[in-house]
Amino acid sequence: MVRDDKKQNQPSLVMLSSFQHLLHILEMESAMNPATPSQKTLLLGGMIILLFFVGSFAFAQVLPEDPTKGARLFVSKGCVKCHGLKGEGGKTGPDLGKIDLGDTQLDLAAKLWNHIPSMIVGMERARVIKPNLTGEELTAISAYLYFLKFFDEPGNPTRGKYVFNEKGCNLCHPLSGKGKEGEPGLDQFPQNISPIFLSQAIWNHGPVMISSMVKLGMKWPVFEGMEMMDLLEFIKANTKGPKETAFITPGNPKEGKLIFASKGCIKCHAIRGEGGKGGEDLGKKAKTLYKSLTQIASSMWNKGPTVLAKMAQTQSGIPKFSPKEMADLISYLYFLHFIDEPGNPINGKRIFSELGCSKCHGLDKKPGVLMNIDLSKYEKAANPVDIVAGIWNHGGEIEKAMKEKGIPWPRFRKGGLADLLEFIRTPKKKL
Ligand code: HEC
Ligand code: HEC
Ligand code: HEC
Ligand code: HEC
Repeated sequence: MVRDDKKQNQPSLVMLSSFQHLLHILEMESAMNPATPSQKTLLLGGMIILLFFVGSFAFAQVLPEDPTKGARLFVSKGCVKCHGLKGEGGKTGPDLGKIDLGDTQLDLAAKLWNHIPSMIVGMERARVIKPNLTGEELTAISAYLYFLKFFDEPGNPTRGKYVFNEKGCNLCHPLSGKGKEGEPGLDQFPQNISPIFLSQAIWNHGPVMISSMVKLGMKWPVFEGMEMMDLLEFIKANTKGPKETAFITPGNPKEGKLIFASKGCIKCHAIRGEGGKGGEDLGKKAKTLYKSLTQIASSMWNKGPTVLAKMAQTQSGIPKFSPKEMADLISYLYFLHFIDEPGNPINGKRIFSELGCSKCHGLDKKPGVLMNIDLSKYEKAANPVDIVAGIWNHGGEIEKAMKEKGIPWPRFRKGGLADLLEFIRTPKKKL
């Protein structure tokens, strides 16, 4: 029974194209609700656990707090004048929603670097003034471009009805009312749901659901590809429950990191070597988690019974999640791959001299042979992206100087850039 009179008045973020999404975000007030006292205590608890682990984290790059913050900057800094996002926007530069921007933050920075000369030409031609960016702003824009793949296209309710029956959900969940054993009917499910809702259900309702499945001799149903999106579309057509905005807003990766610690995930899943060994190191699997919300939620759902069984044996037992906590957690898992492996400054020093940077910026306390422009202020740079922003801001002068001195514009791939930046930000007396 698919009701199509149930179009939501407010478009959900999940259903919008990236560009509409961008405009929608611009309309929305960015002011976040101040944290309630209970959220604060929870955060504090998480923070204390985290501090325990954080000591040995060497990564200087920071996780974003709001992945959509960069949408505003993409417009206000004029990127949108030349770049479209999936069809809409400027046409001078490539459509950044359609091309593969690589993966991590420094992948993107490397691409940006490589295109500085042609972008400068484009800007002169279009008579736009190159906007200056701080490292923080550049991180926000990168995070937004990285985030574009997060929400999937909406599913198909007709296929979803098939999935609902084929997976056996219909054996226990009626369309309305209660099931034979009192299972909730779909009309009691909340409205405006996304895969976050199903992930939350694993932890909050999984144990009961699994035991009723065992009674029926049923195997745990698993999801592949976009099946989950189709199923959700069918469920949505039948729900009447309360609305929950956390299901359709992008989570907060930074807070998600605290949730990952406070809910005990880190006791079994290390992130790049830091944490327990009971499950896989999710830092090493980060690339496979950088797919989409649906893919992450499907893999968590599919492994649900194994994880719950293991967690039930731990002292803290199986944690419960609020929608916001789950949204933040998934956002964190998605953003794991955004943060690069730390660079190697020794390697970076070699690159610095091979590419001729040392000719104009000096090396080992010796001035450059062509120019002598001091970069020591970056030895205090908290974030390697600050240096990329510096290169962007001075792009015109650097390019002019290189042309005059007959030095070709160096091209980068991610690894090399990470090493180079690490060299620049390492206090030189240490090397
Ligand atoms: C005046 C037009 C213009 C503006 C404004 C502009 N760009 Fe570009 N951008 C270009 C052009 C043209 C290219 C393609 C250069 C090439 O192919 O070598 C490009 C390339 C890029 C690329 C590399 C894409 C690839 O194929 O690897 C990225 C990333 C990028 N721009 C990001 C940005 C961001 C972020 C902003 C805003 C801070 C911005 N651009 C502002 C014109 C512009
Ligand atoms: C064998 C019976 C059974 C099957 C099959 C089953 N469920 Fe459930 N489900 C339950 C029970 C029982 C609960 C309530 C658990 C509780 O109260 O904690 C539940 C709860 C839920 C909830 C939480 C609802 C809420 O309001 O938060 C969701 C979501 C859910 N099921 C989805 C599904 C989906 C999707 C499928 C098919 C892939 C499915 N269930 C198959 C028995 C089942
Ligand atoms: C008691 C140990 C334990 C805890 C605690 C734990 N997990 Fe796991 N997790 C596992 C194991 C073991 C697997 C592998 C299951 C398998 O391969 O069948 C797994 C698998 C996963 C996967 C799937 C990885 C893949 O291969 O795609 C994800 C995602 C995941 N866990 C997330 C979490 C999150 C989020 C938490 C915290 C809420 C958590 N886990 C807590 C043991 C644990
Ligand atoms: C031909 C000379 C030349 C070469 C080679 C060169 N630069 Fe520069 N660099 C400059 C000039 C000129 C400036 C702009 C100084 C200004 O505007 O104050 C600059 C500025 C910078 C800045 C910003 C400094 C600031 O004050 O914010 C960074 C970072 C930088 N260069 C890094 C590099 C790196 C990394 C390389 C090697 C890949 C490199 N440069 C190669 C001439 C050069």
